[in-house]
Amino acid sequence: MATVAEIFKTMEYGPAPESDKEALAWIAKHEGTFGHYIGGAWTRPAKTFDAINPATSKVLARLADGTTDDVDAAVAAARKALPAWKALSPHARARHLYAIARGVQKHSRLLAVLESMDNGKSIRETRDIDVPLVARHFYHHAGWAQLLDTEFAGYEAIGVVGQIIPWNFPLLMLAWKIAPALAGGNTVVLKPAEFTPLTAMAFAEIVHEAGLPPGVVNLVNGHGETGAAIVDHPDVDKIAFTGSTEVGRIIRKATAGSGKKLSLELGGKSPFIVYDDADLDSVVEGVVDAIWFNQGQVCCAGSRLLVQEGVAERLVAKLRARMEKLRLGSPLDKAVDMGAIVAPVQLERIRELVQQGMDEGATMWQPSWSCPTEGCFYPPTLFTDVQPASILAQVEIFGPVLVTMTFRTPEESVALANNTPYGLAASVWTESINLALDIAPKIKAGVVWVNSTNLFDAAAGFGGYRESGFGREGGREGMWEYVKRAPRPASRAKPPAARPTPAPRPAADALPPIDRTPKLFIAGKQARPDGAYTRRIVSPGGVQLGEAPEGNRKDIRNAVEAAHAAKGWGRATGHNRAQILYYIAENLSVRADEFASRINAMTGCGAKASRQEVEASISRLFTYGAWADKYDGAVHSVPIRGVAIAMNEPIGVIGIACDDRYPLLGMLSLVAPAVAMGNTTIVIPSQPHPLAATDFYGVLETSDLPAGVINIVTGDKDALAKVLAEHDDVEAVWYFGARDGVKAVELASASNMKRTWATWDDRDWLDRDAGEGREFLRAATHIKNIWVPYGE
Ligand code: NAI
Ligand code: MG
Repeated sequence: MATVAEIFKTMEYGPAPESDKEALAWIAKHEGTFGHYIGGAWTRPAKTFDAINPATSKVLARLADGTTDDVDAAVAAARKALPAWKALSPHARARHLYAIARGVQKHSRLLAVLESMDNGKSIRETRDIDVPLVARHFYHHAGWAQLLDTEFAGYEAIGVVGQIIPWNFPLLMLAWKIAPALAGGNTVVLKPAEFTPLTAMAFAEIVHEAGLPPGVVNLVNGHGETGAAIVDHPDVDKIAFTGSTEVGRIIRKATAGSGKKLSLELGGKSPFIVYDDADLDSVVEGVVDAIWFNQGQVCCAGSRLLVQEGVAERLVAKLRARMEKLRLGSPLDKAVDMGAIVAPVQLERIRELVQQGMDEGATMWQPSWSCPTEGCFYPPTLFTDVQPASILAQVEIFGPVLVTMTFRTPEESVALANNTPYGLAASVWTESINLALDIAPKIKAGVVWVNSTNLFDAAAGFGGYRESGFGREGGREGMWEYVKRAPRPASRAKPPAARPTPAPRPAADALPPIDRTPKLFIAGKQARPDGAYTRRIVSPGGVQLGEAPEGNRKDIRNAVEAAHAAKGWGRATGHNRAQILYYIAENLSVRADEFASRINAMTGCGAKASRQEVEASISRLFTYGAWADKYDGAVHSVPIRGVAIAMNEPIGVIGIACDDRYPLLGMLSLVAPAVAMGNTTIVIPSQPHPLAATDFYGVLETSDLPAGVINIVTGDKDALAKVLAEHDDVEAVWYFGARDGVKAVELASASNMKRTWATWDDRDWLDRDAGEGREFLRAATHIKNIWVPYGE
């Protein structure tokens, strides 16, 4: 026992343990055993697995290990509950979400202690961050439930949603998944992570007490196989997953061609960039939050410290001094900064990666104090002399390990920051607002924090791109993941747009055949295809109308290269892009008759319908000329002094495989929104009717469009779309065609986890509600949330 005088001298504080009594009593009340929560009732467990406290290695409870039968039962319960839940008024669903939020607050102490015991994270974090954010999330989404029919008019629930979550923020990830799903009118089957199932069990009790209708939320415990059974279940309409990129890739492949909507929040290797004018003392505290928060087991952890050369030495010295003062120990001690690593297997993984880093020649530093020897603890660790291509700099360690690299100029910092396959988050430290806001858009990440780190709120979207996944959680942008276009009421619906294939007959009003062999359109020029093959394009009556080149893999590669070279288009002003779209429309209208005849000759749809298609195409170009400078971002209402700016950014290079049925309108309906938002494109036009697209080269050539913004490759649509989907320099693929093609595109997209929009739905392109608008603009952009706190 230290004397008061001694305490005064060192200013050390002793342990301040939070009691685990209430949590243990709660577990005991359940006799230490939990089934699944299905259809509003607990199942009786057969085979079980243990929930372990990683700080003590003690078993906390046993949980049922979910089988495919359990998953079947949960999905059936969710399906049964769906119609009534969906039919509830938005206000009634809002009341339910509100009741859940209240319940979370009422039980916040139990939840915080339980989370800390099961996960190993400090009680300070669970009490002050995880659990308050969980309540905040349900309150915020009670609001979206209330506003659903006005703010998401024309949209409806997707259906039964399967959700699979990781162990690093067990209850918070559950909230991020369940709150928007319920607000959107969906019902849920969720699998908690096997290392951390207990707060989910407490949550089941909360929704039960709150009177949520049975079957709206179902929880199935288990391991990866249980998760896979949810993913594979034919009666699940959407999968939302947070976890490793490896499993994300498996899920992308498993759901390919199934029609299931998918959102993935995966790993990261986020940069924490410090410029030489930054306030280094704030930086040090920022680093503590970035990489030692939750022992570094954070998908968006600032795990790569990039420092401008001039201040690197000083910053590293300050960091080491700070690390000496970090307190690591029992997670339930209110005075620790760091708790335990979630499980022995994760501890082992950290150790291995650190060893590999040392073997690669990097310099490792740890504070002089020692870790508890029992339980899963790992000290804060700092690496210097790290090579940008080394394992340490590239692999997600998911532990309290920071790697440092230096740069000289802002350009170099951006190159270094983007030098990973991930794109989740970034943190930018400088006293110059000019520099910060210049750098933020250049970093490939879904979230950028300026002079801050790890800020989260229910009102702001979170999520990444590239190998960090796709989709957003939180805010309005997150709600889109949980709704789909509602079928239009029959009274308003127009007659179906399907074009019957006319019986073979000589098309009376078709142009006489002209022997023209068009080329491909690449980098602003008509380019001879790599292969010598062409395909005959014939009218429905069998008259040869021309030939179209058969593009191949090499042609696609050239087109992708051209699209990359044209990426400056993304920095053109909206006004500028609008002017060019209007100019294209103008030049098309000059040749309207010629295009109408061509469409009629190819499709046999008749003079009137072909004329209508051309007019609709001109109008569509005007629509996106209009949108080019009007698709605004947002400033989210987050509870900080500062702003969270949600910016719509172009995705980059988009591959587009067009609907076969409308040779011109089907193409422009997709290309125009992509280009309006600043993307560059590789377009595969209608396979049977490509000549409207090849005629269109002439329109493009006279419209001031920069070379490479639109590239057109004719040929075998599915084969070419697959090449685009496999290509690592293509950032998204849109595919409108057959189900087999959808499947192939989605499967191949897993290579770099590109975003896809692939569908076999017949769209009525002539209908403005279905054929244009915000749905297309959302697909053409991703949202970057830039947090800028202010004040002295
Ligand atoms: P994981 O991705 O295997 O686990 C996440 C969730 O997916 C768990 O609920 C698990 O049961 C489930 N799951 C596993 N295989 C599945 C499958 N085939 N189908 C459906 N669900 C499946 O992550 P794990 O093994 O716990 O951690 C390994 C590494 O993953 C970590 O070291 C870290 O690098 C990364 N990770 C990243 C997270 C993030 O938030 N970005 C969260 C957790 C892990
Ligand atoms: Mg555990």
